[in-house]
Amino acid sequence: MVSLRFLVCCLLFLASSVYATIVSHDGRAITIDGNRRVLLSGSIHYPRSTPEMWPDLIKKGKEGGLDAIETYVFWNAHEPTRRQYDFSGNLDLIRFLKTIQDQKLYGVLRIGPYVCAEWNYGGFPVWLHNMPDMEFRTTNKAFMNEMQNFTTMIVDMVKKNKLFASQGGPIILAQIENEYGNVIGSYGEMGKAYIQWCANMAQSLDVGVPWIMCQQDDAPQPMLNTCNGYYCDNFEPNNANTPKMWTENWTGWYQNWGGKNPHRTTEDVAFSVARFFQRGGTFQNYYMYHGGTNFGRTAGGPYITTSYDYDAPLDEFGNLNQPKYGHLKQLHDILHSMEKTLTYGNVSTIDFGNFVSATIYKTEGGSSCFFGNVNESSDATINFQGETYVVPTWSVSILPDCKTEVYNTAKINTQTSVMVKKPNEAEDEPINLKWSWRPENIDNFLLKGRGESTMRQLFDQKIVSNDQSDYLWYMTTLNLKEEDPVWGKNMYLHINSTAHVLHAFVNGQHVGNYHAENGKFHYVFEQEAKFNPGDNVISLLSITVGLPNYGAFFENVPAGITGPVFIIGKNDDETIVKDLSAHKWSYKTGLSGFENQLFSSESQSKWSGDSVPFNRTMTWYKTTFKAPLGSEPVVVDLLGLGKGTAWINGNNIGRYWPEFLSTEDGCSTECNYRGAYYAEKCQTNCGEPTQRWYHVPRSFLNPKGDNTLVLFEEIGGNPSFVNFQTIGVGGVCANVYEKNVLELSCHGRPISAIKFASFGNPRGKCGSFEKGTCEANKDVVNILSAECVGKEKCSVNVSAEKFGVPECDGATRSLAVEALC
Ligand code: GAL
Repeated sequence: MVSLRFLVCCLLFLASSVYATIVSHDGRAITIDGNRRVLLSGSIHYPRSTPEMWPDLIKKGKEGGLDAIETYVFWNAHEPTRRQYDFSGNLDLIRFLKTIQDQKLYGVLRIGPYVCAEWNYGGFPVWLHNMPDMEFRTTNKAFMNEMQNFTTMIVDMVKKNKLFASQGGPIILAQIENEYGNVIGSYGEMGKAYIQWCANMAQSLDVGVPWIMCQQDDAPQPMLNTCNGYYCDNFEPNNANTPKMWTENWTGWYQNWGGKNPHRTTEDVAFSVARFFQRGGTFQNYYMYHGGTNFGRTAGGPYITTSYDYDAPLDEFGNLNQPKYGHLKQLHDILHSMEKTLTYGNVSTIDFGNFVSATIYKTEGGSSCFFGNVNESSDATINFQGETYVVPTWSVSILPDCKTEVYNTAKINTQTSVMVKKPNEAEDEPINLKWSWRPENIDNFLLKGRGESTMRQLFDQKIVSNDQSDYLWYMTTLNLKEEDPVWGKNMYLHINSTAHVLHAFVNGQHVGNYHAENGKFHYVFEQEAKFNPGDNVISLLSITVGLPNYGAFFENVPAGITGPVFIIGKNDDETIVKDLSAHKWSYKTGLSGFENQLFSSESQSKWSGDSVPFNRTMTWYKTTFKAPLGSEPVVVDLLGLGKGTAWINGNNIGRYWPEFLSTEDGCSTECNYRGAYYAEKCQTNCGEPTQRWYHVPRSFLNPKGDNTLVLFEEIGGNPSFVNFQTIGVGGVCANVYEKNVLELSCHGRPISAIKFASFGNPRGKCGSFEKGTCEANKDVVNILSAECVGKEKCSVNVSAEKFGVPECDGATRSLAVEALC
């Protein structure tokens, strides 16, 4: 029985043209476009790429078999100052949604406006935190008022552009809040009242499409509760008459400064999706489908890296991440082909024991089957309707007609593309860039200790700076008399700090700097320092590297130098502590080079080309370069630099920090897809710079003429090695099972040679294939060379007729190929 309330909600959702009604079918399905039950979606966050990239990314999503594109809406980016809005450039939400519409895809709009998303402060503007009597995500008047104001503004804007499906537009679902169920316990009764208020508020906006609340078991009706995670096949919505929906299937994971690079295998992502649809799933969204880049100061954290690649099906630059993209595309096409049976079929299950099961969707017109093997260590041989099938460990086989296996999540037939970086091939580009430089002018702060406001207290950085900058100076002048008990001893500066990065100076002398280890943001910094009789200027520069974005009350996690700050005098038998916390502190937000826009192309400031210094703290560097030829994505290699910010022609491409190495342990070259995935399971990059290459979107570059790169180096580094490179496919390889089609593509470039090919039981993996114990009798390399070399792509049937019959004792045969691009 379809619940009355749900029907009401959905009948309101009247749509014209292609965007038909969403109704609850058979108690679980979501039906769009007539009979659509299999709804595949992917997250692409508009500010993490550029408007010039959007059409290509969305098109690749469509070609990858997606029905919908999902995005969050980023409040702090759109309302950086209260009631002053920004929808320009890559914040042009409407343009992004219209691009989705142009491609005839659906849209899923997760307004939040709390979004988490590894985005600075989870998407909350910091001014919100600084409003009087403010408490986030609870029944607080000021908060609810601001949340409603922003949400309404977004909804009105989308309605004005007729973008909701109820208006004939692409958006079929909207989201309010985000994973509040994960933290609701910390908010007591107020939390329950808040979520009820969220539901009422959202409903009152009358968008004409269903609202979702992810990770919210107690979502009030008619909110649809949805699941987030690596696996959601066990999830059941809190109302059995609503569809089983998965808003975030994490295709990989994010990276932190000092952290390693996480990968989630293609086999495991495909397994999770197939399992979900085997078990009655309806809507599945990849988080992320394209992760992209945290430009400017948008990275959350603390310590989320500038790259938000996420090991998604489209890589940071928008290239196909193969085989993930292609293996999932095949899955999508097959699931779509079974839509009728999945929507209308009667479901039955056979349990074979040992975590092996078959699910049959039967209609009068035909049946479709899934065989799932959730065992982590043993393949299963099952008998089904008189036939024998092998279901490999941790995999799902799909048989659209319940007879022939057309897909198994663990058998990848898609090519692996090996992406390579190539040096800049621009004409007349010298090998070494010519640099000029400027010092950041800090003398006033170091010697005079004078800022723009004073307070007799140490304040949280968010309160003083409103997040207008990463940088905040805390300065005080201390008059020391020789009679002072602290005098004459070994003297130390002692700071209890939550600054992500700290630079300390006494009387202009650099006492030291420190960066917190990831996760250990509460620490004590203590360094010996030299003080003078009379006035001493203590200048502390606190630097944030992304504000927190997750957890109950994350908005109150302290930032900056929260104190106490002491001067400590130590003798053999005596320790004297002088507390400076209630001293007169002078504050200054930001650095002067930022205020003077040294990064801007229009900047008239003087730079010196003489004796460019290396390893100097607080230094600006500038160079010009020619854009790399061609259209492949561009990266800049910042190896040799410490930490800072980089701009291309005035565009902030994000924080850089190549000096911060990923920790040494816990990487693996082999990655076993079998068994449940977790973020630390398959990591690479141990002991290497956390992030060495930074994305330079093509649209930031002048294809002809000069381009400018400006760096603000905070710790000290050497820019001599900086260079630009392009990213493209270097080679491709595949290992395709017999009776399948080998498809090779160099993504726009010609295939130049077949380096290796073997039909039989080849071993090894891409880059290190070897012939096995049985081998076809024809010259496989020759056959493939004739069909593929010189072409951008080729497609070859893998059969014994073509390559000759190897005697493999009945084992499944495959064709392994490695080609150069
Ligand atoms: C979820 C959250 C997303 C994102 C993800 C991890 O909990 O809803 O916004 O933060 O985790 O990438």
